Amino acid sequence: MAKQIQAKLLEKKQLTKDIYHFKVKADDIVKESKPGNFVEIRVTEQTEPFLRRPISIYNLDNENGILEFIFQVKGKGTEILAKKEVGEDIDIMGPLGFGTFKLEGRKNIAILGGGIGIFPLYELAKQAKQNGIQVNTYLGFRNKEYVVLENEFQNVSDKLTITTDDGTYKQKGFAIDFLKQDIENNKIDCIYACGPLPMLRAVRELAIQKNLDCQISLEERMGCGIGLCLGCAVKKAESPKDAPEYYHVCKGGPVFQAKDVEI
Ligand SMILES: Cc1cc2nc3c(=O)[nH]c(=O)nc-3n(C[C@H](O)[C@H](O)[C@H](O)COP(=O)(O)OP(=O)(O)OC[C@H]3O[C@@H](n4cnc5c(N)ncnc54)[C@H](O)[C@@H]3O)c2cc1C
Ligand code: FES
Repeated sequence: MAKQIQAKLLEKKQLTKDIYHFKVKADDIVKESKPGNFVEIRVTEQTEPFLRRPISIYNLDNENGILEFIFQVKGKGTEILAKKEVGEDIDIMGPLGFGTFKLEGRKNIAILGGGIGIFPLYELAKQAKQNGIQVNTYLGFRNKEYVVLENEFQNVSDKLTITTDDGTYKQKGFAIDFLKQDIENNKIDCIYACGPLPMLRAVRELAIQKNLDCQISLEERMGCGIGLCLGCAVKKAESPKDAPEYYHVCKGGPVFQAKDVEI
């Protein structure tokens, strides 16, 4: 059950010129959260911007009731959020999303993330590692300037591959191409992915082709975040062309079986 709370900002770190890492005190949300859940943040008490902003849960510190999230400044909402200072309260609603990442029965997984899509994958990798699952992580960034959380993912992965599109750091190319090579000789039993749409489309195709289970987290544009506005619809893959059916990413997702959605 989602809670709306005033969460005190305990720590704030700027990771790159426009990416911020926040730690907030949020016991009631932390204890109910699962990997893949997100929260909706109201960034101001003023009327503008009115809508809450959806942000993924990056890390759960269950012992201390601390919720961590990381965000990139994109527009007005995230710009206001980035100006919050330690000690201030932040209006947070969560955990949201009934579709979360499922790890049951897995032995050897691939985690594929691109850009800001890597944030919801950290808690998943952490829990997988704690449960003795082999974690192979593939993270892709535009260039060296955008690379974040390398050490953090190293600590929760058995194997970590970092790529940059232009080769300015680590491997040159797309992360999915390195995953493709490993699938051939590494008995991956499920792929978990979040990132830009072209990456998600490619991994969906790959999983269907290789008959592999694949769970993807969609970061659709959202309005209400609680199933009321229809702002986050995504087409069901098997629905008839003349009468298409839709999922709401905010309620049914954000995590879906890749084969179930048309993206
Ligand atoms: C489930 C989910 C999880 C997300 N997790 C993260 C995260 O962990 N870190 C991160 O940096 N970003 C994340 N995003 C994207 C983030 O929500 C947007 O970047 C943010 O809402 C932009 O708000 P803004 O006011 O700065 O930008 P504006 O462009 O001014 O926003 C205008 C409106 O569009 C919506 N919007 C704009 N871009 C997006 C987007 N990509 N996704 C959803 N709504 C959008 C806003 O919520 C707002 O209603 C997530 C999105 C979703 C749906
Ligand atoms: S964001 Fe309003 S229904 Fe999903």
